[in-house]
Amino acid sequence: MTGSVYDYDPERIEALCGAYRGAGPLTRPFYTSPEIHNADMDRIWRRHWLYAGHACLIPRPGDWMTWAIGFDSVILARGKDGELRAFHNTCRHRGARVCREEQGHARAFVCPYHAWTYDLDGRLKTATEREFGVHPSRLGLHPVPLKNVAGLLFVALGDDPVSFDRVAAEVGDEMKHQGLEDAKLAKSVRYTVKANWKLVFENNRECYHCNTAHPEYVRGTYDTARFSPQTMPEVERAEKLASERFARMGLGDAMASSEMTGAYWRAARTPLVEGWVTQSLDGKRVAPLMGTFRARNEWSAGTLRSTIFPNFWQHASDDHAVATRLTPIDATTCQADVTWFVHKDAVEGKDYDLAKLMPFWQRTSEQDWEICEANQAGILSPRYEPGPYSSVRETNVQHFVDWYLGALVSRFRRSYPLPRALPRTSESKGH
Ligand code: FES
Ligand SMILES: [Fe+2]
Repeated sequence: MTGSVYDYDPERIEALCGAYRGAGPLTRPFYTSPEIHNADMDRIWRRHWLYAGHACLIPRPGDWMTWAIGFDSVILARGKDGELRAFHNTCRHRGARVCREEQGHARAFVCPYHAWTYDLDGRLKTATEREFGVHPSRLGLHPVPLKNVAGLLFVALGDDPVSFDRVAAEVGDEMKHQGLEDAKLAKSVRYTVKANWKLVFENNRECYHCNTAHPEYVRGTYDTARFSPQTMPEVERAEKLASERFARMGLGDAMASSEMTGAYWRAARTPLVEGWVTQSLDGKRVAPLMGTFRARNEWSAGTLRSTIFPNFWQHASDDHAVATRLTPIDATTCQADVTWFVHKDAVEGKDYDLAKLMPFWQRTSEQDWEICEANQAGILSPRYEPGPYSSVRETNVQHFVDWYLGALVSRFRRSYPLPRALPRTSESKGH
C-alpha cells in the first residue's frame, strides 16, 4: 500500500466536512485551502477513476501519451500487439521520469537518465541481473489499471480504487453507438482556469446560468426552456417524440438514464431543439456521421451527454463529440483540455471545417471558464458566505457536493452519513 503522499491533517478535513450545514455550496476553505487541495488529490484523485483521453489518440502500435496529475504521471501506450496499457511514468532505476513529452511514437521507452529501456508493454529490456543483482523481470514499469469504455480511457492512480465495473458497463452501453473507437482527434485546446476544480464541475452540473452565459448553447437545447411554464409543454412534447425516435433507432429510452443522479456518473441522450441535428452554431451537421448512425441516418440522434466525477464530461452528437478533461493544478487553478473528435476517415477542409466544428463548444467552454473564474474570485473574499441552492435548478450541484463530501471522508470512514440533500423530485439539467 502506498501511504498518502499529500500533506494534510485528516482530523481537520473531517471536522470541516462535518461542519457542512447540509445543503448549499461548500465553505471557503474547500475552494481556497492548499490543505484541502492535498486531501482532494489524495482521497479523490488517487482513488477514483480518471478520464485520461480517448483510445483513438494513440491509434497505432508504438503511439503513446502521458498525463500528469499532481505528483503522478501516467504513460498510456499501444503495444506491438495493439493492446492499450498504462504505466507510472517513473523509472525503476533511480526514478527519473521516463517520458517527458505529452505524446510520441516509439519502439521502446528509453529513460533519459541512464538509458534503461522498457518495452511498450512495460517490461525492462536492459540486462540488470549481473551488474545490479536484480532480474529485469522484477523491474518493469509499474502498471496503472486501465479501462477502455467504448473508446474512452480511464485510469486509477492509487492502490485502492473505487469499483468502476457498473460505470464502465452502463456508460459503455450508451457510448457504443457513438463510434468513438473509430474516431480521430480533430482539435484539442488547453485552458488554464483560475478556479478550483470543484467550482468548474459544479458549474457543469447546472444550466441555471445558461440563459445569461451561453447565448449559443441555449438556442440548440431545451436545458433552460424546460423550466419555463410557457415553454414546458413544447419541451415535453419534443422530448416524447425524441424518446420514441431514439427507441426506433435502437438507442434505448432517452430519458431513463438522465434520472440516474444517485451515482457519480450519467450517460443521457437528450434531444436537440427542432430543426437542429447537431451541436453547432446553426444546428447543421459539421462532420460525417459516426458510429452506428452511419447505417441509420434518421433525423438526429440528439446528444449523448456523459459525466463521470471527478474529471470528465462529453457531449457526443451523431457527427462529432467534444470531451472535457479536468486536471487540478492547485487550490485555485485547474486545467481543462477540451477535445473535438470526428470520424477517423474524415478529412479536414473536405469533410469538416474547424471553423464550423469548434465554435459551439469552444464558446460555451470559454464562457464557462469566465464565470468559474468570477466565482473563484468572489469566494476568495473573506466575507464569502455560502448561499442557498435552487431546489429546482441546482439539485445536481447539490448532488455533486454530496458525492464530494462522501468521497472525501469515506477513505477512512466509509459509513460517514451523507449530508442531507435537497429533495430530488425534479431533475435539474447540467450541460
Ligand atoms: S533513472 Fe532511469 S535509467 Fe537511471
Ligand atoms: Fe455553462
